[in-house]
Amino acid sequence: MKIPYVSFSGMHDDIREDMNRAFLEVYDNAWYVLGKQVDEFEQLYAGFSSTSYCKGISNGLDALFLSLKALDVGPGDEVIVPSNTYIATVLAISYVGAQPIFVEPDKRTYNLDPSKIAAAITPKTKAIMPVHLYGQSCEMGPIMDLANQHGLFVVEDNAQAHGATYQGKITGAWGHANATSFYPAKNLGALGDAGAITTNDAALADKISMLRNYGSKKKYYNEAIGHNMRLDELQAAFLKVKLPRLNQWTQSRCQIAESYQRGLQHTGDLVLPYTAPGATHVYHAYVIRTNRRDELMAYLTANGIGTIIHYPVPPHLQQAYQDLGYQKGDFPIAEELAATSLSLPLWPGLSEEKVNEVVSLVQQFYSNP
Ligand SMILES: Cc1ncc(COP(=O)(O)O)c(C=O)c1O
Repeated sequence: MKIPYVSFSGMHDDIREDMNRAFLEVYDNAWYVLGKQVDEFEQLYAGFSSTSYCKGISNGLDALFLSLKALDVGPGDEVIVPSNTYIATVLAISYVGAQPIFVEPDKRTYNLDPSKIAAAITPKTKAIMPVHLYGQSCEMGPIMDLANQHGLFVVEDNAQAHGATYQGKITGAWGHANATSFYPAKNLGALGDAGAITTNDAALADKISMLRNYGSKKKYYNEAIGHNMRLDELQAAFLKVKLPRLNQWTQSRCQIAESYQRGLQHTGDLVLPYTAPGATHVYHAYVIRTNRRDELMAYLTANGIGTIIHYPVPPHLQQAYQDLGYQKGDFPIAEELAATSLSLPLWPGLSEEKVNEVVSLVQQFYSNP
């Protein structure tokens, strides 16, 4: 049985006609940039996120960048970021000319460890960027307390955790400006690049609108050196079709994760996902850890099972960041995660039979050492 790492069929087969209708609506309406679809999606996604405002942005990286830029984070500022994040979080800090300050994650949740943040705060610190990695909410209560005590901005990277919560409050609603991605494989995915920023601050929302549209509020009048970083009208129309189904797809992801959790407990040296008290997980990825990661991955590949490594090289060891002067050993938790993590197939609609097939192959791997 061939099982790819990701498949859209469980979502897309059901909504084919609605997506076609959404396409035709945009096509016939003939208003292709910043129109009714973007306006409507922004309202819906703000509602979903329990925030007053949502601004549609071209993609997740641009949303992270514009969040920092709108908060006037720039040269001379330091921004605290987890040492095991996807590169985009760090790139956004570089784009505004600030300095990324890496803080090691909690070894069980893989999210920013609130108890380690205080030691990284200096007079130059301007913001903290918690990343809700793999779909689990960070422990946002303690992070917000710390930020408030030190007068720091919080910019959540919510690319992987649409709908996750901490103590009942949804991700994307905690920070001052929060970025998300609707890259196709995300829990809520467009049919191309797309992203958004959520905020409760009216002035900030206005500034983000202006910055994403050439620095202009009134056509041909430019008040800042802005960008073209707008959410596309077509992608907004597709996202409007998908958003009402997101909770149902999240439930499917959680059921699959539970099946893996049951099937794989006490298997070899596997470390399974752990969710912190108070946090929920929407399983963008089901990430296991093993010292035999590369062998296990090769075994699964040979048996037709797709897997992915999130992520093989932590940001501080990327060639792009060699100027920061970090070396192997500087962030041992991030490095260990990079060497041992493996994500198993998971998508809404992945059948119990297929999950069982993955589970039994992993068990077979460990029963033939
Ligand atoms: C944690 C995280 N942050 C940021 C991004 C960037 O989003 P995008 O690909 O839409 O630029 C991604 C996804 O690619 C991500 O997983």
